[in-house]
Amino acid sequence: MQQVRGVVARSKGEPVSVETIVVPDPGPGEAVVAIQACGVCHTDLHYREGGINDEFPFLLGHEAAGLVESVGEGVSDVAPGDFVILNWRAVCGVCRACKRGQPWYCFTTHNAAQPMTLASGQPLTPALGIGAFAEKTLVHAGQCTKVNPAAKPEVAGLLGCGMMAGIGAAINTGGVGRGDSIAVIGCGGVGNAAIAGANLAGATTIIAVDVDEKKLEWATEFGATHTVNSRRVDAVHAIQELTDGNGANVVVDAVGRPETFRQAFYARDLAGTVVLVGVPTPDMTIELPLIDVFGRGGATKSSWYGDCLPSRDFPMLIDLHLQGRLPLDRFVTETIGLGDVEEAFHRMERGEVLRSVVVL
Ligand SMILES: NC(=O)c1ccc[n+]([C@@H]2O[C@H](COP(=O)([O-])OP(=O)(O)OC[C@H]3O[C@@H](n4cnc5c(N)ncnc54)[C@H](O)[C@@H]3O)[C@@H](O)[C@H]2O)c1
Ligand SMILES: [Zn+2]
Ligand SMILES: [Zn+2]
Repeated sequence: MQQVRGVVARSKGEPVSVETIVVPDPGPGEAVVAIQACGVCHTDLHYREGGINDEFPFLLGHEAAGLVESVGEGVSDVAPGDFVILNWRAVCGVCRACKRGQPWYCFTTHNAAQPMTLASGQPLTPALGIGAFAEKTLVHAGQCTKVNPAAKPEVAGLLGCGMMAGIGAAINTGGVGRGDSIAVIGCGGVGNAAIAGANLAGATTIIAVDVDEKKLEWATEFGATHTVNSRRVDAVHAIQELTDGNGANVVVDAVGRPETFRQAFYARDLAGTVVLVGVPTPDMTIELPLIDVFGRGGATKSSWYGDCLPSRDFPMLIDLHLQGRLPLDRFVTETIGLGDVEEAFHRMERGEVLRSVVVL
């Protein structure tokens, strides 16, 4: 075992702190990864606020890249020195989703079997089974996806959660392709990644919706063809006007609130698709006329992690990035240290960043 520094949320709403973390040596099927970079995702803040579950203390951070330091017995897919992006979908291959040939829904993904702990011995819950706001972390080897080491760690790590969730929400869940129209509500890191994904896939009308002008400016850099400030105008009406009065083929809700979901539901064309990728809190409910659910046809889908398959999608998207076709680097608004995560949460809440990335 070894002791490293990591960012811990001890209780609901309390500011995070840098603590000593005990990382066990890797057991069978496990790997210890030396973290090089880890992005600050809104989901880390959801954890800190008790919005995910009550299993405090959490070791936060889950959007990371690094170098494999050591592997346990039976690990053959990765080796010490490999440059990897950590994923929270290490598919099991045997659950009912995997058996049906849909491993991107895998219901029993692998995580490390041994717990990391505080110096007191108190077990930590790693965010999304990763816990990468730390110098080193212990994961299941299947959570390590090898990619081209020419990519910068602070850029590559972002694919480990938010950017993959956004790109995949558009391309995988929404099925956006050449000539389609798409609207994205909420243009933070995840929403703007959906816009970049739609752009990559050849969508011709890409409508960015946010309540913050700066986010909308960023959205145009990622390929939005139109922007809508929904604080000023009615989002549904604006999206319909920009699509010949019809609505978009796909609308992505990257906020995850009843009002944004309702906008997404009504702003899509008949037979269109609504994709919910923003994470609601447990108290949120929505009421819709059932005749509208029927009458509008199409699909309302949730997107977990962009329906990604890390082994298929991470190396491909890193290659596209290295070829200059996916501007992942532009999501990095700032690089920070381990001690700056609390401030990064505040900057996120104030809308000043797409991604703050902890660099080690
Ligand atoms: N489904 C998944 O697999 C997955 C993965 C990662 C993150 N997420 C979730 O995606 C969401 C977005 O994450 P993020 O990191 O991009 O967050 P973020 O805070 O960077 O972005 C949120 C954006 O929504 C905008 N916004 C807020 N209220 C709005 C409203 N009423 N109308 C329009 N825009 C509004 C904000 O201005 C901001 O630009 C979070 O809920 C996060 O937990 C989901
Ligand atoms: Zn499975
Ligand atoms: Zn995340």
